[in-house]
Amino acid sequence: MGELIFIGLGLYDEKDVTVRGLEEARSCDTLFAELYTSNVLGSSLEELSSNYGREVRGLSREEVESGGAVLEAARKGKVGFLVGGDPMAATTHVDLRLRAHREGIRTKVIAGVSSITAAASSLGLQVYKFGRTTTIPFREEGYEPLSPYEVVVDNLAAGLHSLALLDIKEDRYMTASEGLEYLLDCEQRLSRGAVLPSTLACVAARLGSPDFLARADRVEVLLREEFGSPLHVLVLPGRLHFKEIESLAAFAGLPEDLAKELQT
Ligand SMILES: C[S@@+](CC[C@H](N)C(=O)[O-])C[C@H]1O[C@@H](n2cnc3c(N)ncnc32)[C@H](O)[C@@H]1O
Repeated sequence: MGELIFIGLGLYDEKDVTVRGLEEARSCDTLFAELYTSNVLGSSLEELSSNYGREVRGLSREEVESGGAVLEAARKGKVGFLVGGDPMAATTHVDLRLRAHREGIRTKVIAGVSSITAAASSLGLQVYKFGRTTTIPFREEGYEPLSPYEVVVDNLAAGLHSLALLDIKEDRYMTASEGLEYLLDCEQRLSRGAVLPSTLACVAARLGSPDFLARADRVEVLLREEFGSPLHVLVLPGRLHFKEIESLAAFAGLPEDLAKELQT
């Protein structure tokens, strides 16, 4: 029997994998990459392949969900399954792991640097103070769920921050502005007062990259700004500790008047 190792690639390019992940990947017989739940946009499949000294084969969602090629290779040899960020954070890859496990294939997870903690730490927000994470989806005919907004409403009621991951569809990456517009639209439909033009929101763009950007301001101000190339993520803050307010002012351009208002 072989082995299936889920390896987190981290946030941005081939340099973000841990040393352990790199060593494991280099010792695998076969390497697959799943780049549709997240992506390391600073690296191509070719760059990943040259980093590990063997070809990395990109898999479609259908190929991962069927599990066929991955499980077949893992029955015979050591297989690395590469995923952006942490391989199990905001993905459904536990399903593939369980299927391999049920077949008697050994499995292992090499954790990766995740956008989920990096968003909080880069903005200076405390992970203890986050409630449920949500994902804002691209709208489709007959599919415009209110649940991302409802998560923000519930988190706010408990005084907690909300992390909103943004949808990826093929080569389309939702921008922070599209995410904010989605939430404003939900506000119009539900009127719970959770995401208004005057509400404070934070944007973290390209976490882990050399041109990382963090911004904190009112939604109406952020909507007039450009945050550049993907990936983007949003945070809708709940009750802020004064150190968090100071951090947003220091590291995310929170304007002084808004910082003062939040301190009182
Ligand atoms: C489905 S989640 C997968 C998270 C991933 N497994 C992880 O641990 O980071 C993908 C979303 O996370 C956010 N994200 C991931 N990497 C990011 C980065 N480097 N900068 C900003 N946002 C990022 C984006 O909103 C992206 O659409």
